[in-house]
Amino acid sequence: MKMTTLTEHVDSSWANDPAHEGLGSVVKAIADGARQIQAKLQAAAIADVLSAAGGVNVHGEAVQILDEQSSDTFIRLLGESGSVAAIGSEEVAEGVLVGDSPDHRWVVLMDPLDGSSNIDVAVSVGSIFGVWKRPPNEPVTPETMLRPGSEQVAAVYTVYGSSAVLVAATAGSVQGFTLDPSGGGFRLTHPDIRFPEKCQYYSVPDGYYKNWDAPTRAAAEMLRDTYSLRYVGSLVADFHRNLLKGGIFWYPADTKNPDGKLRLMYEANPLGFVAEQAGGAASSGSRPILDIRPEKLHQRVPLMLGPAGAVERTVSILNT
Ligand code: AHG
Ligand code: MN
Ligand code: MN
Repeated sequence: MKMTTLTEHVDSSWANDPAHEGLGSVVKAIADGARQIQAKLQAAAIADVLSAAGGVNVHGEAVQILDEQSSDTFIRLLGESGSVAAIGSEEVAEGVLVGDSPDHRWVVLMDPLDGSSNIDVAVSVGSIFGVWKRPPNEPVTPETMLRPGSEQVAAVYTVYGSSAVLVAATAGSVQGFTLDPSGGGFRLTHPDIRFPEKCQYYSVPDGYYKNWDAPTRAAAEMLRDTYSLRYVGSLVADFHRNLLKGGIFWYPADTKNPDGKLRLMYEANPLGFVAEQAGGAASSGSRPILDIRPEKLHQRVPLMLGPAGAVERTVSILNT
């Protein structure tokens, strides 16, 4: 049976829908970039680009060569789409202002390569994108990139693993695609993804237990007593497994990272949008992720993503 391609799905879903005009070209640019990054990752050791690029990013973290190459690739392709007004990237200190013609309708915040500490050990990594509509008739400024996650129109993530996967979410729809290695691009392999009823896994960086306060420890103990641990250290891979199989991901705040480690705009917001559209929940532990009014492009937030019941139970113990 011929599987629908990403291009066919996008064109049939949004072709005559003014609210999503140009969004298809954004998703296609992401898919093109994902194909290129997947090929780069597979050849990384041979091309000798596994090492750090030297220098640190705005977060003070060592930048891998592939972090920079992924960021450059997606910025180029999103710019060439002609539909993107501004881009925020984990690897770029300030936002990239692309254009403010009427066609430049979309604003993209991205983590171009998530889990990059896993690249040199062949563990799955991925890319994460939040897509907001540019406020019409407004000039494009850095503030254009600082809107709450609840105002996202779409979110996309990719996982480069045993297969290359792209998941695209819009209101009420989460669709999963797999890159066809025999050519033909991404094909619709996981239509209408929803969190399973049963939660079976939890993903928590347990090694930081000593840096957690008492409520965090109590909530982590409940998870440990209830579910099976799965944690690969790539947020997007841990999230994708939990979305398909039923699991909760939680990166708490701790004494070293009082605001948590993960970034609100291009990790928590996009995956929080996907989680909610798949019937789940996203919380900082004290409030829904998507309600947070951002102040800085690279601000951090504690992040809990998963089936609504598991998230609610964890949040209630955390706030006891
Ligand atoms: P990135 O590679 O984009 O910096 O993200 C890494 C993040 C996330 O992918 C993962 O969940 C987390 O770092 C793992 O952190 P620890 O190594 O502290 O567990
Ligand atoms: Mn990341
Ligand atoms: Mn990253």
